[in-house]
Amino acid sequence: MNVKKLAAEAAVELIKDGMTVGLGTGSTAHWAIAKLGERVNNGLKIKAIATSKESDALAKELNIPMVTFSDIGQIDITIDGADEVDPNLILIKGGGGALLREKIIATASEKLIVIVDESKLVRQLGGFALPIEVIPFGMESTRKFIEELGCKTKIRMTDKNDRFKTDNGNHIVDCTFGRIESPEKISQKLNQIPGVVENGLFIRLAHKVYVGYQSGKVDILLKKND
Ligand code: A5P
Repeated sequence: MNVKKLAAEAAVELIKDGMTVGLGTGSTAHWAIAKLGERVNNGLKIKAIATSKESDALAKELNIPMVTFSDIGQIDITIDGADEVDPNLILIKGGGGALLREKIIATASEKLIVIVDESKLVRQLGGFALPIEVIPFGMESTRKFIEELGCKTKIRMTDKNDRFKTDNGNHIVDCTFGRIESPEKISQKLNQIPGVVENGLFIRLAHKVYVGYQSGKVDILLKKND
């Protein structure tokens, strides 16, 4: 059973004619883009904006009409994956290195719909190393300041042993906290460090989370007070 595909395809049912849709990044978002492409080729009228060059290329291959921020007012729905989801629907994202564009698009969207398989649900965030986008200049110093917040860091590398480069020309530092007791405080402190562009904690952004299970069911988790 392809559980990621299951959750992705259930979420794509939310997309209606006339919407502007944010396209996520990663192996789960891949299935959402594929389904959207199928629906567009069957007559669905939408515009889309992508959170990465990779998703943009896939969408264009599938003939999904792509726009940029200068063409649109707001984004109606963004469908994107996550690396961890806690009971308050706070997320860790950025396993694929696209967290900055993902956060810009999520923030500009009326609704962020998250698609995951059951393995992404956690009681407490932090088991997955938190990705942080850092500008190349001063990396070693920025990294030290990040570590002072109580984590171990690794600079993300490619298979060829170069520093991984994001679509924005920056690097990713993966930070192992073990447990993140107060995501809001950590997020604020991280973003105050010069050189940190953005971190992978998505707080009060997710509207709904579609969770796929091996049994074939899809649960929808709602933001509290919705
Ligand atoms: C991309 O940078 C990420 O935020 C992904 O959305 C996240 O890593 C989930 O990826 P998968 O769907 O591949 O697990």
